[in-house]
Amino acid sequence: TEAIKAGLLGLGTVGTGVYRIIEQHQEDLKHQTGCDIKVEKILIKSMDKERSVAISPELLTTDYGDILNDPNITIVIEVMGGIEEARTYIAKALQSKKNVITANKDLIALYGGELLTLASENGCDLFYEASVAGGIPILRALVEGFASDRITKMIGILNGTTNYMLTRMAKEKLEYDFCLKQAQELGYAEADPTSDVEGLDAARKLAILGTLGFHTDISLDEVKVKGISSVSQEDIQYGKELGYEMKLLGIADRRDEEIELSVQPTFVAKSHPLAHVNGVFNAVYVYGEAVGETMFYGPGAGELPTATAVVSDLVTVVKNLNLGVNGRGMVAPYREKKLKPENR
Ligand code: HSE
Repeated sequence: TEAIKAGLLGLGTVGTGVYRIIEQHQEDLKHQTGCDIKVEKILIKSMDKERSVAISPELLTTDYGDILNDPNITIVIEVMGGIEEARTYIAKALQSKKNVITANKDLIALYGGELLTLASENGCDLFYEASVAGGIPILRALVEGFASDRITKMIGILNGTTNYMLTRMAKEKLEYDFCLKQAQELGYAEADPTSDVEGLDAARKLAILGTLGFHTDISLDEVKVKGISSVSQEDIQYGKELGYEMKLLGIADRRDEEIELSVQPTFVAKSHPLAHVNGVFNAVYVYGEAVGETMFYGPGAGELPTATAVVSDLVTVVKNLNLGVNGRGMVAPYREKKLKPENR
């Protein structure tokens, strides 16, 4: 069979990881899909940047047209980040009947509904597993694994940067600014880390979890948000003495039929498993009426963990291509929602 060809938009932390995993896992990917999967072109901003991975220069382009107008490229992988440009590129890809995979939580939290509709109108897949909790396949778990259940509560440590910072501040009594700098150097933080420390990144992920977990359309402005910038070393140490760890928690709750959504620094009792999620790790606690308590744990950011989610989506898209079912059943009708007054 012919190779499946993908165009990659962006070659930063996640893009580099995606390229590496596709190269290194060629054989496994072929085993699962029956296809050779190739990155055909990579859109980058500038040709002269130094890169941590060896890539032959003819793969690189600064012109999106080289990907969009290549009929052999059937899948576009957006890992460039940002909102408006990425939104335009994805919309154009879908309109050109190319399937899309994105890691872009900012974009999905704001325009997910609109882009999913566009995808289904064009008979294309649009997958975004990497947008929430990097290496944890939590979106699949919500959509498929809990399809039979009724989820009433989700609590997440959804931002690797802040969890890394809070862990080092708590355990080593290091300063906030130093910990943030380290998280940036490790490639965990957003280009503008304000969205990490002010809780916006976690809020975006919570809106996505709420939408999929509660089968309703949660928008970002329905999440109450408070970040960690006002958390002091004293707060953390004081909590510790009393048996609590400070965590930035995203909570989505609909136990009393009304949905409540918040992101805020919270003291978590050491007896709770979420208190033991340290460093760049994320965790999502999910409560379903039938299943009861479950918890998902794994790396929430970083090159290879996030890239695994992207490439797993790629496998699904290729399997769908083989079956000719791309874009089917992408947008389920949303249920009406009732929000708690403070979230309206
Ligand atoms: N800046 C994000 C984080 C990256 O720290 O969790 C992964 O979404």
